[in-house]
Amino acid sequence: MKRKKAPTADLETIMPILIGAWRRFRQIPGPPDRLQTREFRSVVDAVLKLQAKTDEKGQSLIGTDYFSNPELLGAYLLYFWVLHYQEGLSVIGELPFTPRRVLDICSGGAPFAFAAQQHGALEVYATDQNVRALELGAQVIGRYGNSLAVRKWTCLKEACPVEGTFDLIILGHALDELFPDNQKGWRDQQNTFIQKLLNRLTPQGCLLIVDSSQEVMNHRILQLRDTLVAAGVPVQAPCVWKGDCVALKANSVCYAQRPMEKPYLLKEIQRAAGINLGSLKMSYLIVRRPDAAWPQLPEGEKFYRIISPPVETHHGTRYYLCGTDGKKNLGTRLKLHPASSKAFEYLKRGELIKITNALEQHHIYDIVEGTQITIEAALGKPVKEVYHDD
Ligand SMILES: C[S@@+](CC[C@H](N)C(=O)[O-])C[C@H]1O[C@@H](n2cnc3c(N)ncnc32)[C@H](O)[C@@H]1O
Repeated sequence: MKRKKAPTADLETIMPILIGAWRRFRQIPGPPDRLQTREFRSVVDAVLKLQAKTDEKGQSLIGTDYFSNPELLGAYLLYFWVLHYQEGLSVIGELPFTPRRVLDICSGGAPFAFAAQQHGALEVYATDQNVRALELGAQVIGRYGNSLAVRKWTCLKEACPVEGTFDLIILGHALDELFPDNQKGWRDQQNTFIQKLLNRLTPQGCLLIVDSSQEVMNHRILQLRDTLVAAGVPVQAPCVWKGDCVALKANSVCYAQRPMEKPYLLKEIQRAAGINLGSLKMSYLIVRRPDAAWPQLPEGEKFYRIISPPVETHHGTRYYLCGTDGKKNLGTRLKLHPASSKAFEYLKRGELIKITNALEQHHIYDIVEGTQITIEAALGKPVKEVYHDD
């Protein structure tokens, strides 16, 4: 299961397909490649409802089958689908292999399932309680030239309709719907469900959980990470630190930020809805089976995930890091960087770096003459393992 080249989002092809699917689904005659003013307004209204997860009366959509409302499902297809697909493309790139058999749970219009296909997955099952959402996703993916297997599955009530094990199981943007945090016992139920999913992985398989970067959800994912790690579950990404989450201990957040392509319609929806989002922001976690090992990094070397954007301080630009030996802070004492530390000038939140010969004082690292900074895993790429057979 070697990795293929990273796929491009190909939104120039996909956006017209989405608009066409939206138009057929809504059965509103009009131009095939754009929305008319009234249509656009109704999509923006629905995007705002989906974002707030409330209906027009201010009632929560959580716990309701809101995709049975065509306006909401249509707006999801034109906006959130595009974001979630790009999130999927980025994080699925961090698997150490190309997944062959994939199960996407609470798949909606299947943007994560499609992202897995774009990464080379051959047998992809999308499941959801809402068949219309699945079929709409399958239609889009079909017009793109792929085929997607869809199955209705109300996943807390019924047995999984797909047999066997999976190289990748995906749960995207659904934790709060499956296990609302105002429901008694939600955390135990969530953890039991996740455990069941881990049992359905192939020996080298991974479970991918993606959700919003907002604080409550971010903390929920970080807590889940701590629970899993304490139970012996290895993390594939983003953490290389094997102890309790340092961000959570400090009551701060730790989420991923990735570049986002913004087709015209997406930009227009954001502008009209007052959504200020220049990049993809998400909480995510990729874990292996409990009986698998953590990724094998070279022994005796220190690796760090960049967990903040550049922070301007009295001591120049600095980054927060979370690494094999815990939380650190990186800056520089050099005005000009030689080739060995030039990478500092281009660091991106989410990259995995290696630091050698820096000036180290407690958790503070400073780049000096002779320091080496190397990018060990670029955004959307897996960590390089010592004993990996690639
Ligand atoms: C926010 S959408 C996310 C869809 C897709 N994963 C994505 O990221 O775009 C949440 C999905 O979870 C589904 N869902 C909620 N509760 C469910 C349940 N108990 N069983 C199956 N699907 C459920 C909804 O129908 C909806 O499609």
